[in-house]
Amino acid sequence: MEKSCPPSVVCFFDSGIGGLNLLNACARLRPDCDFAYFSDNDNVPYGNLSHDKILSLAMGFFGKMARLSPRACVVACNTVTAECIDKLRQQFEFPIIGIQPAVKPAAAFGGRCIVLATPATAASKSLSSLVERYGRGNTEVIACPELASYIEKNIFSPDKRRIFGLLPRVKAQAIVLGCTHYTYIKKTIEEFYNCPTFDGTAGTAAHFDKILGKSDHLTHTYQKISFLSGNIAVNSRIYRFLTENRT
Ligand code: DGL
Repeated sequence: MEKSCPPSVVCFFDSGIGGLNLLNACARLRPDCDFAYFSDNDNVPYGNLSHDKILSLAMGFFGKMARLSPRACVVACNTVTAECIDKLRQQFEFPIIGIQPAVKPAAAFGGRCIVLATPATAASKSLSSLVERYGRGNTEVIACPELASYIEKNIFSPDKRRIFGLLPRVKAQAIVLGCTHYTYIKKTIEEFYNCPTFDGTAGTAAHFDKILGKSDHLTHTYQKISFLSGNIAVNSRIYRFLTENRT
């Protein structure tokens, strides 16, 4: 007989809309789970804040998520992963999965590799050790101080010329999208640099699936996706768009 216990909730956190692409990828892989998305659209962009401020905001949201007794939490934000994941893991007992810039596949692609990231991620120790380990001596990190904020504010009507003006003018053979917000403008970035982009969405979703392990129940006819903080109307609208345009 099939078990019909309620599915477990997985919580997602990003400063704003950036984590919705990763939520979409993970929800697709795990129809056995329900998901709850938390964002902090009032304080976005986190990447321009101090370490202490980012940590205190993230701790506050993790406190709220912990009350749902989640099966796992996903930090769908490169900035919070780089700044806080160790401290979050020390504080909370549920599994915490983070996202990191996809330096390894991009550097392996060959040629000059540029990692675009928020100022906090760009300055982080975690990114410099990733680059040291996998960057093949050919990878450079460049901070984009206004890009995440522009995307957050203009998601429904992004202006290509304006985005071009916010991108560093460098030559590259591979670009790493080191912030989940940048995934929305992937095509514009590829056009600007005339080279492929790499992001951590698929790799993180696969890792998340592995951490969760085998499904603990067999029946789940309706997958519930809840938006529990931040700009709920905007987050739901974007998420609906992403699910309707799945390739
Ligand atoms: N989406 C986030 C990231 O992946 C953060 C953007 C921000 O709040 O600065 O880094």
